[in-house]
Amino acid sequence: MIFTTQSGQSVGPIGQGTWYLGEDPSLFPEEYKALRTGVEAGMNLIDTAEMYGDGAAEELVGFSIQGMDRSKLFLVSKVYPFNAGQRHIFTSCEDSLRRMKTDYLDLYLLHWRGSIPLRETVECMEELKAKGRIREWGVSNLDTADMQELFAQPDGTHCAAEQVLYNVSSRGIEYDLLPLMQQHQIPVMAYCPLAQAGQLRRGLMRHPTLQALAGQHHATVPQIMLAFLLARRPDTPKRFYSLHIVSAVLMLVTNPMRSLLPAIFLRGVKDEKEQEDAAA
Ligand SMILES: NC(=O)c1ccc[n+]([C@@H]2O[C@H](COP(=O)([O-])OP(=O)(O)OC[C@H]3O[C@@H](n4cnc5c(N)ncnc54)[C@H](OP(=O)(O)O)[C@@H]3O)[C@@H](O)[C@H]2O)c1
Repeated sequence: MIFTTQSGQSVGPIGQGTWYLGEDPSLFPEEYKALRTGVEAGMNLIDTAEMYGDGAAEELVGFSIQGMDRSKLFLVSKVYPFNAGQRHIFTSCEDSLRRMKTDYLDLYLLHWRGSIPLRETVECMEELKAKGRIREWGVSNLDTADMQELFAQPDGTHCAAEQVLYNVSSRGIEYDLLPLMQQHQIPVMAYCPLAQAGQLRRGLMRHPTLQALAGQHHATVPQIMLAFLLARRPDTPKRFYSLHIVSAVLMLVTNPMRSLLPAIFLRGVKDEKEQEDAAA
C-alpha cells in the first residue's frame, strides 16, 4: 500500500529510523547497507534528526542515498526545540540539508516542545516551505493540549504530521490525541513501534498473548507488533491523512529473521492490490 502525502509524494507505511546510527564509524558499512536494503525493499521514508549522533545520523543518510532517485525518497528530519525559532532554524535546516546532501526535506519536525512560542515556529516553518527548503512541516511529542494550541495559531493547521510514541504496549495516544488528530485529518507517525525491542516494557517480547498470536500466524513477535500498527490504517487509503507510519530501525543485513519485516510490508502491498483487483 502506498500513500500520497499532501505534497503529492508517495510513501510506504513503514519507514526506517536512524536513532543511534552513525555514531560508531566501525558500524558505518553495516548501517549504510541496512538503509539501502530497506529503501530497495520499499521503505522509502527515512527518519532522522539533527540530534541523532550530533548530525552523524544525517551524514549517514546523506551518504547512503547517493545515486538514488531523490524524488522517490521521503526524507524526514527534526529540529531541536531551542533551534526552532527565527534565530537558529534557518541555519539548522541548512546544516541538515548539507549533511543529508539534499536540497530539500520532505518533512521537517519540531522534535519536542520547548520555550520558543509555537506561533514563531510555525511562521519559520512556513517560510522554509515558501523557500522550497522543506515540502511539509510537522511536530513530535506534542500532547493534546499542545496540539490544540498549535491549531489555534495562524497556519497551525498546516501541520502535516505528528510523530509520537506508539506501539502495542504504549497506547496512551488512543485516549484523546489520536481522536483529535483523526478529527483534523493529520497523520500520526508511530515511533518505537517495537518498543525498542522490548526495552520499553520488560518481558514484552515474551508476552504470552503476543507469543500465541505469533505462533498462530507463523510470524515473529516484532512482526505482530508491526501488524498491530499497520492494521490501524485510515479508511481513506488514497490520502496520507490519518496514516500511521511505522518508523523502525531495521538491521536487515545482520539477522535473517529481521529480513522478514520488509516481507510483511510487501505482502501487505500484494494483498491490497488483490483486494482492489477483486473489487474492480
Ligand atoms: N520523535 C522522537 O522523539 C523519536 C523518539 C524515538 C525514536 N524516534 C524514531 O523512531 C525510530 C524507531 O524507534 P527506536 O529505534 O527507538 O525503537 P524501535 O524501532 O521500537 O526498536 C528498535 C530496536 O528494535 C530492534 N529490532 C529491530 N528489528 C528487530 C527484530 N526483528 N527482532 C528483534 N529486535 C529487532 C533493533 O535492534 P538492532 O539495533 O540490534 O537492530 C533496535 O534495538 C528511531 O530510529 C527514530 O528515527 C523518534
